[in-house]
Amino acid sequence: METIENLKERVAYEKSREGYPEGFPHLPDLPAERYISPEFYELELKYLWQRSWLYAGHKDQFPQVGSFLAFDGVPGMPVIIVRTENGFNAFYNTCSHRGGCIVQERQGTCLGKRLVCGYHAWTYNLDGDLLGVPDSRDFDGLDKSKRGLVKLKCETWGGWIFINASNDAVPLQQYLGALPAQIEQFDIDNLSYITSYSYDVACNWKVLMDAFAENYHFVSVHRGSVGLPGPKCAVDHYGTVMSLFKNGHSRNILPWNDGFQPAADVSEETGFSMGMGGIADIPSVGPIPRQFVTAFTAFPNLTTPVYSNGFPLLLFWPTGINTSRFDVVWFGMPHGEEELPEAWKQKIEAFNFILDEDLTYLPSVQVSAESPAFKSIVLNYQERRIYHAHEQIDRVIGPEHIPERLRAQQVLAPFVE
Ligand code: FES
Ligand SMILES: [Fe+2]
Repeated sequence: METIENLKERVAYEKSREGYPEGFPHLPDLPAERYISPEFYELELKYLWQRSWLYAGHKDQFPQVGSFLAFDGVPGMPVIIVRTENGFNAFYNTCSHRGGCIVQERQGTCLGKRLVCGYHAWTYNLDGDLLGVPDSRDFDGLDKSKRGLVKLKCETWGGWIFINASNDAVPLQQYLGALPAQIEQFDIDNLSYITSYSYDVACNWKVLMDAFAENYHFVSVHRGSVGLPGPKCAVDHYGTVMSLFKNGHSRNILPWNDGFQPAADVSEETGFSMGMGGIADIPSVGPIPRQFVTAFTAFPNLTTPVYSNGFPLLLFWPTGINTSRFDVVWFGMPHGEEELPEAWKQKIEAFNFILDEDLTYLPSVQVSAESPAFKSIVLNYQERRIYHAHEQIDRVIGPEHIPERLRAQQVLAPFVE
């Protein structure tokens, strides 16, 4: 059982280290083409996204039985999630007649607990069974029992809904491995959906994912906020402790700088404040996330920096080889107001200030990565969560499908906790 003392020792070790940790494997270069080649992008679409559990929504977005939400995070995978009497179902948003779109809105509630195709009004129940076909006399031998909507796997973790397109997928809890035991303390069954927003970003989805898996860029990209150099810097990236978990998941523990008070301190130089006051605490949260900036990655594309008074899920979706959509979805204790309370607005504004620093910089990475100068990526020990995720990408795609020049060599297995 991990204690706060163990963790403090690990932080102290990382701070005191004077070189590359003895026994830790050399991280081979990652081929640049993983970020720019149509070939690798197609492999991701065909295997990675089709075989992974993907966050698709939260129960609060479904006020009643028959409420639905469109999932369009992955090209070629239009899906709807519907609330049923017993939970949630996920279907391709594709009619069994001529492929019409079942629902065109992103969110809504269907009438009479029936999904009706917009094209010729074939009607399905919330389990996807085909019930009604207008002018059915004109079909020759139509077997309605074989023409239901095509289902995907759909499971929940707390109030969060995940989908998986693969029939062979392991159950969600098994897939999540070490994460539920770490994140349960956030009372995830009872958290409320607070708000969400999205950015279109001109870079490969992995450029985003990589940036949120390391703290090495804080002193440069975030010098205007949490990474301000000098004694008033909010965090001490030198003490970072990373845990690599099975299935590509990971955790990042980043110590606050000695004496920095996230709820109170405002930078004299930049005026930056974390905006952490005035929001209900999640009482069940243990000491680790209270004493360290703690973040988790759920492979492949979800990262969450968890704060004891509410936190966002950050989701990175491919919209093209060199474009992506970045969703930010906030959760916290129910606040009971119609409007977003002022304290929440301040917290989100402070967080978005940090995000803007990343989002202003990262598209330029894609531009330069497409130059002939960029052949491969060299990663350091502080960037090992990136390497860990890339190894898992290849394991999920299947190395046999990946040309050798595009592969990430597998070296980290002995360091997975
Ligand atoms: S395509 Fe859906 S009813 Fe014709
Ligand atoms: Fe960043």
